[in-house]
Amino acid sequence: MRILVVGGAGYVGSTSVEAFVEDGHHVVVYDNLTSGHAAAVVDGAKLVVGDISDGALLDLVLREQRIDAVLHCAARSLVGESMADPGLYYRTNVSGGVALLEAMRSAGTSRLVYSSTAAVYGEPRRVPIAEGDRTEPISPYGATKLAFEGAMRWFAAAHGFRAISLRYFNVAGATERNGEDHRPETHLAPLVLRVAAGEANHVQIFGQDYPTPDGTCIRDFLHVRDLASAHMLALEATDDAEPSLEVYNLGSAAGFSVREVVEAARRVTGRAIPARVVKRRLGDPPVLVASSRRARRELGWQPKHSTLDEMLSDAWNWRASHPGGYRDREAAAIEVDGQAGGEAGGPESSDPGQRPRPSATVVA
Ligand code: UFG
Repeated sequence: MRILVVGGAGYVGSTSVEAFVEDGHHVVVYDNLTSGHAAAVVDGAKLVVGDISDGALLDLVLREQRIDAVLHCAARSLVGESMADPGLYYRTNVSGGVALLEAMRSAGTSRLVYSSTAAVYGEPRRVPIAEGDRTEPISPYGATKLAFEGAMRWFAAAHGFRAISLRYFNVAGATERNGEDHRPETHLAPLVLRVAAGEANHVQIFGQDYPTPDGTCIRDFLHVRDLASAHMLALEATDDAEPSLEVYNLGSAAGFSVREVVEAARRVTGRAIPARVVKRRLGDPPVLVASSRRARRELGWQPKHSTLDEMLSDAWNWRASHPGGYRDREAAAIEVDGQAGGEAGGPESSDPGQRPRPSATVVA
């Protein structure tokens, strides 16, 4: 298959790109490198540096590369940041996403798999959460991801898109080559491992007064390798599908508390990992656990790396082999429109969709 992975230099995208290339697919990564890393893109994939709002460039890449299907993982994804700057989230996650949909329509590509999130549910009324449960996001992040699902649904109805939205719960783990390197880092698992590595004194536990057995929040963790297999199954499923949007939760149906994650990390790393309880973080639901029965039944998805110990140990090994994270090679390797070291506009750049893109844009 010829696959375009938008946001393919990020944590979730790059691990899938790695798996697709290993399986012999033709893979093109499209990323503005705002939070992704050029060094995360495996050698067998092509990298185009571009912004999701740059519809003209996307159109060109889709046509030139004769793309069969798109995996869309590009988004702003920090709940706290979204509360402070909702406009940024609407511009990137909704307007940017619609630019991608329009480019796909113009280029005649109708197969789309989307990285959605548990955040679309807001405060769940019951767990495990099923796809038909109420969606009432409590952050602009969740609201914008849900809004884009709506756009996909209407593009399916009006333009024959065959689309799948995958609502991930908490992703963790690493492959040998690719891992999690967010700057800044806000996620629990990498922060705990950072303490284990001696790069921070202690991990903060955000609240111990939740209505859960040990008082800390419960989350459903999913290995990034299992996410890659779900992405491939979903891409394949769009092949002979009727025009529609199908929605699937992805999780392991097992919840682990924040304290259990810290305990597991102590076990895996053999380090003490001091923890301090601080006040609750705004917007954290007490329990988020997915029912992924639909994905298992209809996509044939079978997660193979569901234990917390495996996820943490893979992430720990990746850290050990990548001290300091990715050593980015952007400056040396990127060439866009013939300009070495050229950088594509970030989400804030002014109206990049209007820029003419006359020639070859693909870099190795
Ligand atoms: N936590 C801590 N200390 C930290 C970091 C996190 O106690 O230093 C806690 C959080 O309060 C939460 C749990 O660990 O209870 C997990 O937090 P993460 O930030 O790792 O992940 P979230 O559950 O907040 O985020 C995930 C996805 C988002 C999605 C969100 C939906 O990463 O994309 O679920 O609520 F939006």
